[in-house]
Amino acid sequence: MDAAALHSAKPVRTRSNEIQKKNQMTVFSTESFADHEQVVFISDDKVGLRAIIAIHSTRLGPALGGCRMYPYADEASALRDVLRLSRGMTFKAAAAGLGLGGGKSVILGDPRKSKTPDLLRAMGVAVNRLGGRYITAEDVGTTVDDFAWVRQSTRHVVGLPEALGGTGDPSPTTALGVYHGIVASVAHRLGCGLQGLTVAVQGLGNVGWNLCRLLDEAGARLVVCDVDPALAARAAAEFDARIVEPDAIYAVQADVFAPCAMGAVVNDKTLPQMRFRVIAGGANNQLARDEHGRQLREREILYAPDFVINAGGLIRVASEHEGFNAAKVDAQVKGIGATLRRIFELADRDGTPTQSAAMRLVQERLGSTGRPGGAAANNNTNERPLAERIA
Ligand SMILES: NC(=O)c1ccc[n+]([C@@H]2O[C@H](COP(=O)([O-])OP(=O)(O)OC[C@H]3O[C@@H](n4cnc5c(N)ncnc54)[C@H](O)[C@@H]3O)[C@@H](O)[C@H]2O)c1
Repeated sequence: MDAAALHSAKPVRTRSNEIQKKNQMTVFSTESFADHEQVVFISDDKVGLRAIIAIHSTRLGPALGGCRMYPYADEASALRDVLRLSRGMTFKAAAAGLGLGGGKSVILGDPRKSKTPDLLRAMGVAVNRLGGRYITAEDVGTTVDDFAWVRQSTRHVVGLPEALGGTGDPSPTTALGVYHGIVASVAHRLGCGLQGLTVAVQGLGNVGWNLCRLLDEAGARLVVCDVDPALAARAAAEFDARIVEPDAIYAVQADVFAPCAMGAVVNDKTLPQMRFRVIAGGANNQLARDEHGRQLREREILYAPDFVINAGGLIRVASEHEGFNAAKVDAQVKGIGATLRRIFELADRDGTPTQSAAMRLVQERLGSTGRPGGAAANNNTNERPLAERIA
């Protein structure tokens, strides 16, 4: 075979090399890897710990993000998850105007079977070795109480129980931020307040329940659903809410849809059913694909980008890092409304989806420090809300 033929020859696909490829863990070629400042792989056989810490960016400050424990199908899935999540944390912190970067960690394992105090302490040792470049917190599969063990090995932890000087459950603050975001979205799209409007809330867990309470107090009518019928019945009794089946929520007649359960709820199947005028809720990654953001704009449904509207909990736990100040946290959480207003104006001006306008603001902020990256480069000017900084 000559050289040209050699270059154009397609690799032979056999079942064995397909399987080998599937099981192979690629690191440098994994999507999102290149964006990262540092990725650390941890293994401690004595306690059965296998974990990955990903630091996406410390440009605006130390990288803060939760520690997820999950029985991943394989190492490649865990790597993909931690890289995607840490990148998202950079955007969320920047959009919230925090002097923080983005990071995340994952522990490979079943939290119901393998989570022990020794394992959590060993995770704390790994976090501590990074000297404060990464600050950890609870996430899926870990609880605030677990971090009492992690805290024994490192001080770079937030979201601790109140008994340990932490701020406890961040969900009510997330719900408060979502509430301010709904108020700003309704004012922009409908030019009115919440009194007498109908809001459809999907998911009545920690965030959804607290949000229902705030909406009810503001005089909104509620339509709710949850896969747990007992929660839906409780909401009907407490907030005079109308209950619908989980699959029926996308087609209800409501002014606002507030997704507070899982991601990808705006997708090819649900979007054609929607007659809402605003989508604004606490769930992460609400759009199945970016394309859906454009379709929402075409249908004149105003979308409050999730990583902007659901940052209340992050704002609260981040405050532990500098010393909790309730008034400051309240002001920052209220600032979510101002940031959204600015994003909506930019999106209207340029005719772009709100998600793209939000990303532009974040990129601007990430590029606007004028200093080299690194936690040490941070200072208090970064704590002003994003909208204020770029206005
Ligand atoms: N808790 C926080 O502070 C916080 C912060 C940022 C983002 N979020 C995101 O907000 C969402 C809700 O978080 P949470 O802490 O309230 O979780 P949660 O587990 O307490 O509540 C979720 C609720 O949704 C219900 N649910 C699940 N699938 C459903 C479906 N198909 N239809 C209707 N209901 C369904 C569950 O039964 C549960 O009651 C998640 O996407 C989470 O990632 C939460």
